[in-house]
Amino acid sequence: MPIKICVFDAYGTLFDVAAAARTAAQEDGFDILQENWPKLAEIWRLKQLQYTWLRAVSDAHTDFWEVTQNGLDYALEALGLEQNTALRERLLQLYWELGAYPEVPQMLTDLKSQGFKSAILSNGSPEMLAGAVDSAQITEHLDAVLSVQSVGIFKPSKRVYDLVGEHFHSAPDTVLFVSSNGWDAAAAAGYGFHTVWVNRAGDPIDRLPWVPKHILSDLTGISNLASTIL
Ligand code: LAC
Repeated sequence: MPIKICVFDAYGTLFDVAAAARTAAQEDGFDILQENWPKLAEIWRLKQLQYTWLRAVSDAHTDFWEVTQNGLDYALEALGLEQNTALRERLLQLYWELGAYPEVPQMLTDLKSQGFKSAILSNGSPEMLAGAVDSAQITEHLDAVLSVQSVGIFKPSKRVYDLVGEHFHSAPDTVLFVSSNGWDAAAAAGYGFHTVWVNRAGDPIDRLPWVPKHILSDLTGISNLASTIL
């Protein structure tokens, strides 16, 4: 039997990236975030991603931790919070402990019992990913955690998607790639993976040369879909 693999983007897909700002807003001393934590989370994420794309096209790769900090610094300044160093430190600390979405452990258990391999393919550095996987307690569910760090460029470079085949010795059409980033799911479809865009917010589809092959509103249907496709 050929190998069947489910590969997940990490940030925003398995791990809730808004959780850092949401959690900090509930803590003593950070009342300033009570109203605008969603805005902070949105700008932080948007800038973090923009910086990955800009660094990829300008051949100026760096660690995902650096663009995560750069994105936060932009977001804090945009909201007039750049002087609040305690808030900055706390948000960065929380980024290492993001929780997984509630349906993640059961979904990974179901995939394993159906004979699928499960892996992460992420822009995250190996250290960041190890922290998130550990705090979400999903280590034993994963067969591999693949980081762009080994190829020195961010998604959606093809060199990143190549990491899956290099690790599992698999062809693209044996892979179901799952991402909450529409552009990532679309580019991975262009690469040749089966793809799912997890569109929790009901966002419009990205206007790119490729489209995700499937769209779901959360991760609960992944194991059913994987067994239908692969
Ligand atoms: C990742 C980002 C794109 O985990 O969410 O690769």
